[in-house]
Amino acid sequence: MPVKSLLKILLLATSAGSLLISGCSKQTTSQLNTGAATTNPNTVQVQQSIPETKPLEREPDAEYVPTPQAIVDRMLEIAKVGKNDIVYDLGSGDGRIPITAAKKFGARSTGIDIDPKRIKEANENAKKSGVTDKVKFLQQDFFKSDFSDATVVILYLDDFVNIKLRPLLFKQLKPGTRVVSLRSHMGDWIDYAHVEQVKCNPEDNCNSEQQHSEIYMWRIPKNLPADLRPDPNIDPERLK
Ligand SMILES: C[S@@+](CC[C@H](N)C(=O)[O-])C[C@H]1O[C@@H](n2cnc3c(N)ncnc32)[C@H](O)[C@@H]1O
Repeated sequence: MPVKSLLKILLLATSAGSLLISGCSKQTTSQLNTGAATTNPNTVQVQQSIPETKPLEREPDAEYVPTPQAIVDRMLEIAKVGKNDIVYDLGSGDGRIPITAAKKFGARSTGIDIDPKRIKEANENAKKSGVTDKVKFLQQDFFKSDFSDATVVILYLDDFVNIKLRPLLFKQLKPGTRVVSLRSHMGDWIDYAHVEQVKCNPEDNCNSEQQHSEIYMWRIPKNLPADLRPDPNIDPERLK
């Protein structure tokens, strides 16, 4: 066979090989993005693993009580969460708020919790709900976290913790960011809140306290009102 023809065959074989290789690697990438695993023996299986957790660094500032799903939905509706939002849940428990924000409202979201048990559950729930591309969970103390890219912050803590968090919210969040809190206010910032009473039935998994609750919503103001003082009912020493 003439050398020219041999060279042609060699060239054709090389480009067919590289096409096959690039087809293979594309499939692997798309599996990574969607988290989907197929049983095709010719593709590389990518298992999504649940991130590791660290030991509990200190006791949480508020105990774990999950928000009933009907109230989760209402909090996100009141904040008018949409696909352009970045939602943070400070103290995210089993992850139901960030997961709902992504799955039902199309937002990107982050849950922060200090408790490794909660972070593990939340990661498992996000995986089951198929939203790991939009939701992440960080095992952190929210007093030490950076949540400055939030457009919506959700809280279900207590009055004291909210008041302690208030300076950090004012420091980190951009004007216009929505802050939504279930049951707990923010000291004298309450005068600036939109307040909605929600009713929740025991059959919707509400405990007795949650059956009649307030949902508060604030927007971070451009200029902080001069009359915002630390809550007079709380010893300033405890806020340090
Ligand atoms: C009342 S639960 C709310 C859970 C969830 N947001 C919900 O509404 O279903 C409060 C959560 O805050 C977490 N937590 C308390 N103090 C914290 C802190 N300093 N940093 C991060 N998470 C904290 C607790 O571990 C708990 O999961």
